[in-house]
Amino acid sequence: MSDTLNSVSSGPVCLGIETSCDETSVALWAGGRLEGELVHTQIPMHSVFGGVVPELASREHLRLLDPLVSSLLERAGRPAGEGIELVAVTRGPGLLGALLVGIAYAKSFAQALGVPVIGVNHLHAHLMACEFSGPIEYPALGLLVSGGHTHLYHMPRECEFELLGRTLDDAAGEAFDKIAKLLNLPYPGGKYIDELARLGTPDLHLFTRPYLNNDNCDFSFSGLKTAVALHVENSALPALDYADFDAATAPQRIKDLCATVNETIARTLLEKTRRALARCTGVRTVCLAGGVAANSRLRQVFSGFAADNGLKFLAPAQNYCGDNGAMIAYAGVRLARMGLASSMDFEAIPRGRNVPDDYIVNPYFKE
Ligand code: KG4
Ligand code: ZN
Repeated sequence: MSDTLNSVSSGPVCLGIETSCDETSVALWAGGRLEGELVHTQIPMHSVFGGVVPELASREHLRLLDPLVSSLLERAGRPAGEGIELVAVTRGPGLLGALLVGIAYAKSFAQALGVPVIGVNHLHAHLMACEFSGPIEYPALGLLVSGGHTHLYHMPRECEFELLGRTLDDAAGEAFDKIAKLLNLPYPGGKYIDELARLGTPDLHLFTRPYLNNDNCDFSFSGLKTAVALHVENSALPALDYADFDAATAPQRIKDLCATVNETIARTLLEKTRRALARCTGVRTVCLAGGVAANSRLRQVFSGFAADNGLKFLAPAQNYCGDNGAMIAYAGVRLARMGLASSMDFEAIPRGRNVPDDYIVNPYFKE
């Protein structure tokens, strides 16, 4: 598994823990490579409710985290955490109760082993996971597109993120999921729209690309969702069978509508990234990360844009776009190599609040 990832030359042996939403995931970085990882997704449980139920998510993390860590360590031949030098954990943003489970576990684990703990910004970790595909050459631009966030960053140096733009309402993934719901697709619907879109032809005149009539780098997707809802209501689309979803046999009109939605979102994201590029000097890499970065058309559009502008394009492999412990362990190693750690009393940061850069100095692993 580690052969598929770009390796880091050195750094501490780090246990990474991710519990910010509906994936319980743990991973180990050792000797500059991913030594092991386990991901348990709660999607089947939450899909019954059509969205993540925070209370259930916390309980599932609590039930699963210790068995997952034990199994990871067992498989790595470190049953009692032998050799672990650092524990990294998602600090936020995320669901508060879910974060608290991971953070309490990480702090206790670190204290029991007598090693430092580091609270990682989940959004930054998604972008750092681009390095699983190759080194980021700085300065870089980073677009983080997930179920909860659409953040566009200037990344002047390693581990430095300056926010250039963000969504004012729905995140890109939320737009995909809400539109998928209108079409009676399973939850979360982004990947089903992606699948159907590949079999359809987009109509670029059907929907206006949202929130471009300004000069900023922010996003707004709620208008697109309303436009699609009105279109669905007025065009008597054939109903899809949710329980027996099969992209190949879906009606062509649905495939075409998905291709249109996908193309509209991809081109909107690209347009704001193009603006960001014009505002920043010397950019060398374009990074695309987060769950929505798994979208095949979005990856195509962004890699074409990077090639046209002589830039390097990096996105994690599709299985590392969603939430995973590997990106948290990796971010922990990166931060530790910059001489940083967290104090034991750091707090969880819920969605909607900024994660502070309040690291403490820990020269032990500094390069
Ligand atoms: O990063 P992530 O796993 O969780 C958050 O931190 O939010 O992102 C989940 C989001 C969901 O909205 C999901 O529908 C979307 O990523 N997603 C996709 C695709 N795969 C996952 N959206 C579009 N195309 C995909 N292939
Ligand atoms: Zn995420």
